[in-house]
Amino acid sequence: MQAEFWNERYKEEVFAYGMEANDFLQEQTFQAESKILCLAEGEGRNGVYLAEQGHEVTCVDYSEEGVRKMTQLAEMKGVVIHPVCADLNEFAFEENTWDGIVIIFGHLPTELREKVHGQFYKALKPGGKLVLEAYHKTQLNYKTGGPMTDTMLYSEEELKSDFHEFKNLQITQLEREVHEGEFHFGKAAVVQVIAIK
Ligand SMILES: C[S@@+](CC[C@H](N)C(=O)[O-])C[C@H]1O[C@@H](n2cnc3c(N)ncnc32)[C@H](O)[C@@H]1O
Repeated sequence: MQAEFWNERYKEEVFAYGMEANDFLQEQTFQAESKILCLAEGEGRNGVYLAEQGHEVTCVDYSEEGVRKMTQLAEMKGVVIHPVCADLNEFAFEENTWDGIVIIFGHLPTELREKVHGQFYKALKPGGKLVLEAYHKTQLNYKTGGPMTDTMLYSEEELKSDFHEFKNLQITQLEREVHEGEFHFGKAAVVQVIAIK
């Protein structure tokens, strides 16, 4: 999918995935005043939530409309985020920079997924935390949201390989109710990652 697809989705007034943060992210904690990078962040619901918790948040997405909406959401909620309009294929991950990296339903094609995920370990500071939730490959049977292409959906094995550098890696596959905006609407197969550098 190209940025144009997401621009079409995000040009509407309504927030496609809602204005509240992802459920799994809301269960997580970070050190106070963490520097957090939110990738494929869409309209900014997760980044804005983290900014509300007192963190310094940079939100990256390649959709201009997404960046417009995340800026709008931050203003509405009275917080500051750093919005960046960039393609993850070209995004420069600086080493030992982030206390947290968050990527929620940021589904990428195989080659790009490996390239992007493969840079998280070095980009995190020691003790830094990765939080990821994505639809599992079996989500194709549920039809309650997410990409309809097998290669854009993730398996535990793929994520284990992507994040093999992390000594502290927790990957959980589960079925859960996802009600996050009009495009995520019901019982779903997800995979969740927590990793500490
Ligand atoms: C399903 S949305 C999830 C948005 C947000 N993380 C959330 O949970 O509400 C997927 C997002 O990934 C972004 N995305 C996909 N490929 C990208 C890429 N190569 N570079 C930057 N953003 C990308 C899209 O623009 C879209 O906003």
